[in-house]
Amino acid sequence: MNMQDIILRKKNSGSLSYDEIKFAFEGYLNEEIPDYQMSALLMAITINGMNMSETLSLTDVFIKSGDTYEWSHEGAEIVDKHSTGGVGDTTTLIVGPLIASLGLHMAKMSGRGLGYTGGTIDKLESIPGFNVSLNEEDFFEQVSSLGFAISSQKDNLVPLDKVIYALRDVTGTTESIPLIASSIMSKKIAAGAKNILIDIKLGSGALIKTQEDAKMLSKWVIAIGEAYKRNVKTVISDMSKPLSNAIGNALEVAEAINVLHGKECALYHESIDIAAHLLSMAKGISLEEAKRQTIAKIEDGSALKCFYEFVARQGGELGKLVISDKTIAVKAKYDGKVESIDALGAAKIAAKLGASKLTLEDKIDYSVGLYVHVNVGDIVKEGDLLLTLYIGKNIPEFTNADFAFINIV
Ligand code: URA
Ligand code: CA
Repeated sequence: MNMQDIILRKKNSGSLSYDEIKFAFEGYLNEEIPDYQMSALLMAITINGMNMSETLSLTDVFIKSGDTYEWSHEGAEIVDKHSTGGVGDTTTLIVGPLIASLGLHMAKMSGRGLGYTGGTIDKLESIPGFNVSLNEEDFFEQVSSLGFAISSQKDNLVPLDKVIYALRDVTGTTESIPLIASSIMSKKIAAGAKNILIDIKLGSGALIKTQEDAKMLSKWVIAIGEAYKRNVKTVISDMSKPLSNAIGNALEVAEAINVLHGKECALYHESIDIAAHLLSMAKGISLEEAKRQTIAKIEDGSALKCFYEFVARQGGELGKLVISDKTIAVKAKYDGKVESIDALGAAKIAAKLGASKLTLEDKIDYSVGLYVHVNVGDIVKEGDLLLTLYIGKNIPEFTNADFAFINIV
């Protein structure tokens, strides 16, 4: 077997056998296949696709590249969620405590931000003292006793995904549906979840830009789940506008607390939805009944209490959370209606303020970001407050074009 033949076959739209996929990808992880050949294969896959059998083979090779976790402890059902990445997507911080207060267990291994999409681990690191790298024993102990824990992905959880993802990121091959499906599902399966909800983000602030691709990804992750006897559900959710009014690490933690207090915004509804889908899957009850039980956990304060305990257990001190006190108010220049709020535009402002990394060398400023005070459909008058910028040491230069992401007509 040789890599050149494998690349050529895919270039000519042929399909690859399990052994060929294993040879190429395992070989890459073992540094027997160089970057340039893997880059060529990934590009051929991105252009010509993979069929279901190839995608299942790739997922299997991914899973077998590292450790897998088995949940043998008795008691609660294990559920997991995964978002394909968005702007202001703080749902994990709300769904986790909801799941735990509903009596289910969630052992969440999360990632950092990628490009303009935020990562749960970065958000948690904005809390002084918070430990994002629990050792295995503490991680599983906390899941058993509290109901959930969040840790950064273990180094040996699908190590092949780490190297392939990094290569995809810089070779224009991130948007391939079979590559996304195997990347996501291999991690969920290796982490041991039985009931999995995949939240497919669609729109300008997301990896997936068309409804067609979102539907295809949904079909594929469900099929992969079936092959591994996992219960997989998907939701396709709007990422043309930011999910949360707050964008920026500490700001998003504070907004998650607002939602756990019952603030009924888009983030609230989406978090309830995700938690209810998981509950309905795990307990075999209707979605309506699951929703009712989920909302009750916000209303009686138990989800909020669980969040505080989760932060304390992982060493975080919420009282020391820093949101910059240097702010700039941006006001409406004319009367009108908020027609749209572009997620990517909002994320770019947050990035300019220092909330995310644009190069590997960048350092995140957890205290900066923006808060959007208006929602799509709102009527605004000249002079009304549109957004507050929370700025760090340096004030970046902004032009009116930067703020055109809030489109008022
Ligand atoms: N999230 C992942 O984990 N992998 C992808 O390829 C895309 C989104
Ligand atoms: Ca995520």
